[in-house]
Amino acid sequence: MTTPVNVTVTGAAGQIGYALLFRIASGQMLGATTPVRLSLLEIPQGVKAAEGVALELEDGAFPLLAGIDIYDDAKAAFEGANVALLVGARPRTAGMERGDLLAANGGIFKPQGEAINAGAAADIRVLVVGNPANTNALIAASHAPDVPTERFTAMTRLDHNRAVSQVARKTGAEVATIARVTIWGNHSATQYPDLSHATVGGDAALAVIADQAWVEDDFIPTVAKRGAAIIAARGASSAASAANAAIDHVHSWVHGTPEGDWTSAGIVSDGSYGVPAGLISSFPVTSDGGAWSIVQGLSVDDFSRGRIDASVAELEEERTAVRELGLI
Ligand code: NAI
Repeated sequence: MTTPVNVTVTGAAGQIGYALLFRIASGQMLGATTPVRLSLLEIPQGVKAAEGVALELEDGAFPLLAGIDIYDDAKAAFEGANVALLVGARPRTAGMERGDLLAANGGIFKPQGEAINAGAAADIRVLVVGNPANTNALIAASHAPDVPTERFTAMTRLDHNRAVSQVARKTGAEVATIARVTIWGNHSATQYPDLSHATVGGDAALAVIADQAWVEDDFIPTVAKRGAAIIAARGASSAASAANAAIDHVHSWVHGTPEGDWTSAGIVSDGSYGVPAGLISSFPVTSDGGAWSIVQGLSVDDFSRGRIDASVAELEEERTAVRELGLI
């Protein structure tokens, strides 16, 4: 057996964790020939439930699963990690102000960033799923000065997948024929799902759809507010689709994006498309299997400019807020 890849998952006893871990163990994230060793991080109250999940993972008899360890200590959980999925976060509860939410999450993502800095493997790749994902990734990255910020990413792949699926429904085209969809900005209701450069079967998606009112009044709000629609229908937030998107994100990062297409991910801005450098914002991205690159040279019309700027302004406000809280 080749050396297993060490995968650390936080919030392992939560609902996304439950949908995620079995797919990692089955090889869907890293590949059908790559063994994995799982480190599960939970808060002390979550450890017993994580132990239950570990029993079920054992019962999967996954040939690629080389071991499972459970921790309530971040330093131990990230020791030697090659891939870290930061899922556990403090949810917003009724009446909670944004500052309180950011502060509570700072208390989680600061020590996790420090632990990654202290002990993760040199090739660590981090995906932050826990919300507010972009700013949580920024907090973690800023406490890992020895790890290139490019290794800290925030998940907007679920938004991307939702956008692709909505275009497939609208046009009747197969999902596999839809390419070059982009999510810009924050993983929040301000995100901008952009079809300007998207294609359906190689043709311009906007020409195939030929319905700008649908794009502005249906598509964009449906994608941006899908999370709330899932909660309203299911009585719980998206979990299996979020886990699926996390699998897709890491798979694309490690195995590369297909020629001629791109995906969306929250990565550190280098100033491209007027997004202030240092913010973790969603962009159109490709991967060569090692690092993400922002797709360059796309035209941005006035409509898109306004939408991107609005979401980026929210990211800047969040960055200012966590700065003022001393979290970065
Ligand atoms: P959940 O509440 O079912 O599970 C969260 C788990 O995290 C719990 O077991 C909790 O004990 C654990 N946890 C809390 N603090 C922790 C810490 N410091 N270290 C380790 N574990 C910790 O929540 P669920 O549904 O699994 O969602 C997790 C996060 O993912 C939420 O913040 C949610 O908003 C976010 N999310 C993000 C999406 C995205 O597209 N980026 C999509 C869907 C959810």
